[in-house]
Amino acid sequence: MTDPLLQIKNLSVDFATDQGQLHAVRNASFNVGQGKIIGLVGESGCGKSTLASAVIRLMDDNATVRADGIVFEKENLMDLSSEKMRAMLGEKISMIFQNPMTALNPVLSIGTQMTDIQHRKKLSRAQKREAAAAMLGKVGIPDPLERLAQFPHEFSGGMRQRICIAMALLSRPALIIADEPTTALDVTMEAQIVHLLKELQQEMGCAIICVSHHLGMIAELCHEVVVMYAGQIIEQGEIRDIFKSAAHPYTRCLLACDPANIKESPGHLPTIKGEIPNLIQLPQGCIFYDRCPERLDLCAERSPVPEPLKKGHWAACHLISKGRLS
Ligand SMILES: Nc1ncnc2c1ncn2[C@@H]1O[C@H](COP(=O)(O)OP(=O)(O)OP(=O)(O)O)[C@@H](O)[C@H]1O
Ligand SMILES: [Mg+2]
Repeated sequence: MTDPLLQIKNLSVDFATDQGQLHAVRNASFNVGQGKIIGLVGESGCGKSTLASAVIRLMDDNATVRADGIVFEKENLMDLSSEKMRAMLGEKISMIFQNPMTALNPVLSIGTQMTDIQHRKKLSRAQKREAAAAMLGKVGIPDPLERLAQFPHEFSGGMRQRICIAMALLSRPALIIADEPTTALDVTMEAQIVHLLKELQQEMGCAIICVSHHLGMIAELCHEVVVMYAGQIIEQGEIRDIFKSAAHPYTRCLLACDPANIKESPGHLPTIKGEIPNLIQLPQGCIFYDRCPERLDLCAERSPVPEPLKKGHWAACHLISKGRLS
């Protein structure tokens, strides 16, 4: 067995706010295997972006990050100087954001941005331009050499996201963190980008952590799924475990509310009743208690611990230990 590429051990992130500390991520642990695609899912505000950004230390100033380790290729990222972390981001870990315009500089040509990003490589400028054009060709941009001279606004939204993917791949990273990479795109464009990501991932063998609201995309792209609720990972499993035999009531609610799973149109999109609890004053007991359709009395008092279901699949729910899983 090879070591996982990334091990996130007991990661917690708090944000200082006027009302007190907001506990955005609590005791999150999971591994990313070499070449695996992990989907990070959960409702808005569950801490997905915070968790993903904490790995690469891309945090707002009011954040406090604690962890027993964020170990990437045997190196604890928590121990790296800012300089070393920046080098790591240029070479081994890349990020793809939801809005390609935030990642691209509007006043520089694509060619300049794509050569600048290779500043660590010992190549001539011409060679860097060639590498950039080759990567643009790979992500499906026609006439890549000519288009290097163009600026971001001269490309469509889908094309811009392809350029961001090309930039993320240029350093041939071992890990890509993609936060809602297709949310800003229409459905057709989303399908194309998912297909492209999958193809490139297979070719290059990198691992991906993909944050998304869109379960259909997760099902198509990912090998494993990590489900977050109100800052905690409440279930994790291989794609089939989650989509065919989800154990946690929250995961099941999420799946039931996915438009793709709704057979007859109810006239409105179903949502999970209630809201995420206040992350500043956390309730006692199970974090999903208030909204859980299957709660037991015990759930109000005691936080459930992770219970293994099968290899690689676990959930934190009292129904499992009580043998009450339906
Ligand atoms: N800088 C900050 N200061 C205070 N609270 C923050 C800050 N950044 C995020 N939060 C809070 O942390 C919690 C988790 O936010 P996060 O953006 O990680 O959620 P998310 O799961 O990515 O949501 P979405 O699906 O909407 O992107 C939210 O309650 C959010 O309001
Ligand atoms: Mg987010």
